[in-house]
Amino acid sequence: DGFGKSKLSFTPIAPVPAAVDALTVPQGFTWQPVIRWGDPLFNDSPDFDLANQTPAAQSRQFGYNNDYTDILPIEGSKDRRAVLFTNHEYTNENIMVPATFDAAQARGIGRAAHGLTVVELERKNVNKPWSYVKGAPLNRRFLTNTTYELTGPAAGSALVKTVADPSGRAILGTLGNCSGGTTPWGTILSGEENFNGYFVSAGTSASDKRYRLTSSATARKWELDDPRFDTRNDGYANETNRFGWIVEVDPFDPASTPKKHSSMGRFKHEGANVIIAESGHVVAYMGDDERFDYLYKFVSKDKYREGDRQHNMTLLSAGDLYVAKFTGDSPAAEINGTGTLPADGAFDGSGEWLPLVVGGKSAVDGMSVEEVLVYTRLAADKVGPTKMDRCEDVQPSLLTGKVYVVCTNNSDRGKPGKEGPTEVNPRSLNRDGHIVEITETGDQASTRFAWNLLMVCGDPAKNASTYFAGFPKDQVSPISCPDNVAFDSVGDLWIATDGAPSSIGYADGLFKVTLAGAERGKVEQFLAVPREAETCGPIIHDDEWTVFVAVQHPGEEGSFADQHSYFPDYVPAGATPVAGQVRAPRPAVVQVFRTDA
Ligand code: FEO
Ligand code: CA
Ligand code: CA
Ligand code: CA
Repeated sequence: DGFGKSKLSFTPIAPVPAAVDALTVPQGFTWQPVIRWGDPLFNDSPDFDLANQTPAAQSRQFGYNNDYTDILPIEGSKDRRAVLFTNHEYTNENIMVPATFDAAQARGIGRAAHGLTVVELERKNVNKPWSYVKGAPLNRRFLTNTTYELTGPAAGSALVKTVADPSGRAILGTLGNCSGGTTPWGTILSGEENFNGYFVSAGTSASDKRYRLTSSATARKWELDDPRFDTRNDGYANETNRFGWIVEVDPFDPASTPKKHSSMGRFKHEGANVIIAESGHVVAYMGDDERFDYLYKFVSKDKYREGDRQHNMTLLSAGDLYVAKFTGDSPAAEINGTGTLPADGAFDGSGEWLPLVVGGKSAVDGMSVEEVLVYTRLAADKVGPTKMDRCEDVQPSLLTGKVYVVCTNNSDRGKPGKEGPTEVNPRSLNRDGHIVEITETGDQASTRFAWNLLMVCGDPAKNASTYFAGFPKDQVSPISCPDNVAFDSVGDLWIATDGAPSSIGYADGLFKVTLAGAERGKVEQFLAVPREAETCGPIIHDDEWTVFVAVQHPGEEGSFADQHSYFPDYVPAGATPVAGQVRAPRPAVVQVFRTDA
């Protein structure tokens, strides 16, 4: 019955109104930042100076809008030293930069706040909070001019060559990094999601349309600074094909070249999460976060070798790619769009992984392997997969092998001209999202699976269509727009949300959900994030009573002159800030721990 109890017990917090500008944690816990936007990373990094920020300073400081986050111990440090990885999804120049700044300077600051960060952490003792170490040997910023090696079948193909990179293998920068995953061999994966927003394109080809690339000026206008951000410029027609990949980073080697893996397909990657199948092949699950887009699975060609890190770091460069088709077992008439359960008592059924690339060969009529991998959405369209409600994190439990597919929402489902509800996406105008639980048939690399819905999210006090695996609805915390997930040491699922203010009116937060036993489906809220922020990158170190979250875009609807959040420094109006603090919102990675730590 269940997996056992986690050491980290807590009394759930009450839902927090969306306007509250505070990080709310359970009684007996407190929090502090590990690292904040602008914190200096290197010995030559300038201190953060909000009013006089420059692109050069920003490129040596922690970036903006931290999303995927993980902390890996440094061997031999007796748990006193670790490395933190964080990506930086996008920027909010409206609140980062005074309106008086020169426009090119503002663009440069925003650009330098994109990318990735690796930074070392230290602590005096286990069970004490972590601090980041300025100038540590593994500290690294990955910027828009950092070279990434494209691996796999599309590397070097005509589809990815540009005038600046005739090899088609050396890509500058990574954009729109959203969620990610950590591999069993100690590297970090990061998903390039909304890369289309950085490019001007003709907007007329089938692939431009399918990836939502348009001829409009971009919001950040980097096309004014670098010709590659307008693919209509001579020699740059393929620049957009060089984004939309899964990135792999070795945080333990600051001289390593990060990779983009073409074998894993190109779409709006939320992230990728890896599990080793019984057969030894490595399986990665990946969502394409767009309304009515798909769920994917990669199976490595070669097998995992325990202890052979060099070999394992090649596993994601070659393998098979599949897209998911879900079939329900209840009559369509019972899927009424209100989310009420079908007569058999469950949203459930069977499924199939439809091949796109198998054994190095294309499984899609009329498309080469390179085309399938670069235009993966177009390839998938041809094989009839299931249109999902925006797959965000897709994460296998390393304890059970079951896979949790987080569908954040899809307010267009059932609208005129759009697909209506199906058993796996059972709600019209799905503002609150739901979570699918997949059980592979036999080996993890199988092409068949069973599925059921773990939960249909929302505020049960106001919404009759919620479902929590049968757990009493009056005993759960209201939850909406699930996005990132993580497991604790006993296999319970922790869910970070993004969008609850606009659906249920509460702040986004972090929730624990029991997966097994009599309390399966019990949702308990652990924390709430400040005004206009989303909760990202949860890390659950329940054995140390510590939880980490990346607080992304606090106060993003404000302006520099009218800030909506002062997280995390909370410098009072009129006060002289303590050194290193500012009176403005700063995306930050925070740790939540017990007050008696
Ligand atoms: Fe960047 Fe799918 O959230
Ligand atoms: Ca059913
Ligand atoms: Ca996300
Ligand atoms: Ca999201």
